[in-house]
Formats: sequence, C-alpha cells, structure tokens
Amino acid sequence: MKYTEMSKQQLKEELQLLTKKYQEFKDMQLKLDMSRGKPSASQLAISDAILTSVTADNTKTADGTEARNYGGVDGIPEMKSLFGEIFGVDSKNVIICDNSSLHIMFDIIAQAMSTGLAGETPWVMQGKVKFLCPSPGYDRHFAVTEYFGIENIMVPMTENGPDMDMVEELVKDPSVKGIWCVPKYSNPDGVSYSDETVRRMAALKPAAKDFRVMWDNAYAVHHLYDDRRDEVLCLYQESKKFDNQDMVLMFASTSKITHPGSGVSALAASDRNIALIKKRLSFQTIGPDKVNQLRHARMFKNLADIDEHMKKHAEIIRPKFKIVLDALESELAPLGIGRWKHPNGGYFISYYAPKGCAKRTEALCKEAGLVLTPAGAAYPYGNDPMDSNIRIAPTFPPNDELQIAINLFCVAARLAYAEKLLAE
Ligand SMILES: Cc1ncc(COP(=O)(O)O)c(C=O)c1O
Repeated sequence: MKYTEMSKQQLKEELQLLTKKYQEFKDMQLKLDMSRGKPSASQLAISDAILTSVTADNTKTADGTEARNYGGVDGIPEMKSLFGEIFGVDSKNVIICDNSSLHIMFDIIAQAMSTGLAGETPWVMQGKVKFLCPSPGYDRHFAVTEYFGIENIMVPMTENGPDMDMVEELVKDPSVKGIWCVPKYSNPDGVSYSDETVRRMAALKPAAKDFRVMWDNAYAVHHLYDDRRDEVLCLYQESKKFDNQDMVLMFASTSKITHPGSGVSALAASDRNIALIKKRLSFQTIGPDKVNQLRHARMFKNLADIDEHMKKHAEIIRPKFKIVLDALESELAPLGIGRWKHPNGGYFISYYAPKGCAKRTEALCKEAGLVLTPAGAAYPYGNDPMDSNIRIAPTFPPNDELQIAINLFCVAARLAYAEKLLAE
C-alpha cells in the first residue's frame, strides 16, 4: 500500500517497525560510502597495463618526439587524434592536458576573470557576472564559478537537457557569461541532451560576446549496456553551422577510462580559441606529461579500442547499478516513495525523494554510518528548492557493502517520508 493511502494509525505502526529496522542498522556500526563517483578497485585493475606500457627503450611518439623531454605544449599527435575521435572533431582542434579536465575548466574561468577571453574585458572588471547552472548538475562545476564570485543561476534540467526556453531568455543578459553542461549521461541525472537541445545550444545568440558553453563530455564513452546507448550530437560541429564555434569549449578526460589519479585530459575548441589557449599555455608550462600521454596512446590506438575497454568497466559496474535499482524498485516503488531513472550510462543514479525529505534521508543515513553526497549539493549554493534530490554513486563500494548501503538508504527514505506524513 502506498504511504499516501495509509491512515495515521497505519503510518504510526509503519514508523515503529522502521525505527526498529533502522536501529538494527545502527547497531551494525557501519562505515559505508556512496558519495563520490569513483571507480572501484577492480575497475582500476583493468587498466594496470598502462603502468608499464612505456619503457626506457620506447619513449618516442609517432612524430619522433622524445616524450621524456620538454616540449609539445598541445599534446602528442596520437592522443590528439584519439580525443578528436571522442569529441567528433579534427585533431587540430584538440589540446591534450595533464591529469584533470576540471583543472582546464578552472583555468578557463580564471583566465576569463583575470585577463579576459578573446580580447574582451576581464570579467572581474565587468561588475557582476553570472553563469547558468543546469540543475541538478555537477557540484564541482558550480563550485568553480562560485569560487570566483560569479553568480550561479539555476536552470532546471528536463528529460532532454537544460530548459532551453529559459537558457535562450537568460542569455539576452550581457552579464550572463556561460553555461555548465554535461551533455551525455549527466551528473547526476544520467540524462543525455536531445538533438533539439544541442541544436538550440549551438544556435544561441548571447548578448555577451565572451559567453562560453562549457561542454563537459566527461561520460562520452561510458555506456552501461551494449544495446542501450545514448548518442549526443557534437556541439562544435553544430555550432559551426551558425558560425558560433568560438562560443564552444569541450572537455573530456580518461579519468573514468583508465586511472583518475594519473589520467589525461583534453580540450576541443575552434581554431581561434585553440590558438589563444595554446598561447596562454606557452606561458604556463614548457610541456605536459607526454610520457603519460604515450602510455595511454600505447594502450588505445583508436576509439574502437576504448570502446572494448569500456565494456569491461560496464561489466563491473552494471551489477552495482542493478543492486541499487532493484532495491529502489522493490523497497520504495510499491510504497509510492520517490522517483528515479534507469540511466543508460554514466556514474550515478539520481533519487528524488518526496518534497522536503532529502536532507532528512541523508541525515538518517549519516547517523547510521552511510555517507551520501550532501542533499542539495547538485544545486547552486547547495540549495535544492524542493529538498528532494540525492545523488547515489554506486561504483566504488564492493557489492556486498553496496547492498547493505542501499538497504539502509531505503529504510531511511521510508522513515523520512513516514515522519513527514505524520507531521502534516
Ligand atoms: C561531469 C564531470 N566532469 C568532470 C569530472 C572530473 O573530471 P577530471 O577527473 O577529468 O577532472 C567529473 C568527476 O566526477 C564529472 O562527473
């Protein structure tokens, strides 16, 4: 029976039963974590060959460059063409960087603030500047713009990506300088942008000349199933049709392909933006870690190799998604509690608690030893107006721990809702 159909007396009995179950979890003195999207130990292991794929007698790149030495500020040719394939752009439009794509994004915003983008006035000298944050979204994106004192504006996510009517309206304001996007298997909803969303994004006519779409394709190749794959149009190619390519900056990395602690990241952009960014990089560094780039190039010759490799990841994490989704479907769905989607890829399951129950659910989990991403974290300033969204990250814990964690989560979700209904 659904909770909303229960009488107060039935709800009180339910609460009693749940309180007992919850205490049993507390007595177990658990230390569980479903908070961050990290690959599990067995996922790290499938890429271990990368640790030895370059040896002292084999350190030259395809164009004969000595990888151990200085130089090659925009990356080695093999990796530029590999990421070109991932992005769907020519390798001349790609720059390969060190470990973290978040680092490149931070750098772009830092540059926009301090020296300006493409000859425009630095944002720091333009008064209040704003950034669009499709929400729920990636908390670390929002943290970057918040760090620089940029005002984060919430734009709701839909089944097809950000609410584009709202985006088109907001970009008429010249103080709106950009938008954060995770176009494929979004963090946390697992939503992929529809063709219409990509086309409308590509056709935007922002009032600000220095407006940038920060297109973070972090989950470009991260499918969970062979027969259910989302495909997303390439924003750069679409933007060229509107001569809008300078507005687009695309990012990706191997963090969740090989090892997040020692990966390779990449940026794709227009000829003009690439030239400007290369110039800046030449002041920042005499060259990136080309040995690590070469390690990756030796492991993956092309996109097909990556695709094969990603199937091994999927085999490891598919059962984890199943553990979480099965529990939600069997423990919460019949009671009419919450909603969630079955994503085709990515790293997260987005749970929407009944309005006003997310923080309480999270707190109950925490008290019983289960750490979740803080409720509200996926919204600008941690403020979920509905107090509903909780991001579940199933990849890291071993399966037996994950099962306990999601069982506890379901009890906490039920408790939080039963309490709320009784208090009404
Ligand atoms: C959407 C998104 N972008 C970027 C990152 C981090 O990428 P990197 O390791 O390349 O800095 C993550 C990690 O969870 C992510 O979810």
